[in-house]
Amino acid sequence: MTSQPATSAREFSVDWADGAVLAIDQRRLPAETSWLRLTDVDQVIEAIQTLAVRGAPAIGLAGALGVALSAHLHAGAGPAADARVRADAERLIASRPTAVNLEWGVRRVLTRLPDGPAAVLAEAVAMLDEDAALNTRAVARAAELVLSLTPDRPLRLLTHCNTGRLATGSVGTALGAVRRLADAGRVAEVLVDETRPLLQGARLTAWELAEAGVPYRVLADSAAAAAMAQGLVDCVLVGADRIAANGDTANKIGTYGLAVAAARHGIPFVVVAPESTWDRQLPDGSGIVVEERASEEVTTFAGARTTPEGAGAYNPAFDVTPAELITAVVTERQVFRPAGGRTTPAATAGQATT
Ligand code: MRU
Repeated sequence: MTSQPATSAREFSVDWADGAVLAIDQRRLPAETSWLRLTDVDQVIEAIQTLAVRGAPAIGLAGALGVALSAHLHAGAGPAADARVRADAERLIASRPTAVNLEWGVRRVLTRLPDGPAAVLAEAVAMLDEDAALNTRAVARAAELVLSLTPDRPLRLLTHCNTGRLATGSVGTALGAVRRLADAGRVAEVLVDETRPLLQGARLTAWELAEAGVPYRVLADSAAAAAMAQGLVDCVLVGADRIAANGDTANKIGTYGLAVAAARHGIPFVVVAPESTWDRQLPDGSGIVVEERASEEVTTFAGARTTPEGAGAYNPAFDVTPAELITAVVTERQVFRPAGGRTTPAATAGQATT
């Protein structure tokens, strides 16, 4: 893995160039914008596991490009090549368990394996272009929905984790909708949950909003309910890592608590995600595997221990929000209102109901 000044010519967060996978190194933001040049599958897996590349759609694309890389590297291996690529594909899928997009991306490009490495790569590159187009459609639909659910005034929006262009190939999902609303002059302020323990909100969402010139403030995750109670939030927008058939939604840890608080205060709670995040094999969220990450992410801060030596930690990377707490799931194809889900009359949206 080399850190190089190379960037995606198409301004994607992950891309392919000269026989390698390129990725913005999200671990280094906002201090430094640097790119990784990943030249073997182990490096792609490490980048996904260490969250250099993160966000459900982005890891789906990285997984697809990882298979293309494997096919490229094994091109001269004769009859054994396909089996090696398939083994690499399984390792890529196993690198993070919760976001269904990873398996989806890997399996989609694998269907082209019989046609040779160039066909696998062409499929992965096509997915990058599609990602931009479908996110644009989802974002437009989500922005329209938010306007229909909220009072007619510059909006105060709250978001969690990072769902912007970094977390996808480009455009973003929930944060893309926030940006679209801001571009239309409809946003007064975005409250950005810092997103403990890895600070995807404070580091990445704040960076994207600053870059776009959108007014924002960062808050500790634990301040979000208080912000709602004080009437500072008109709508909550989040992304998703896996959505079950009934709309139960896995997303970054802390999302469930936000949904509970939003329901308490009559605030619309909108999930924006591509259709590829939907796992219709799962009837509900009880079957979603939640990734458990290393204790050190919680017991240390910026490399320094914050707990007594030997302290254990509970560190799930995601939680599952029941569909009944969700106002709508918006994709490139539909606005899905879960059966038994939240209905939020525009008249009460954003008002504190204590
Ligand atoms: O652990 P991460 O940073 O990959 O978690 C990301 C999230 O939870 C995002 O909200 C989700 O993947 C949607 S990104 C468009």
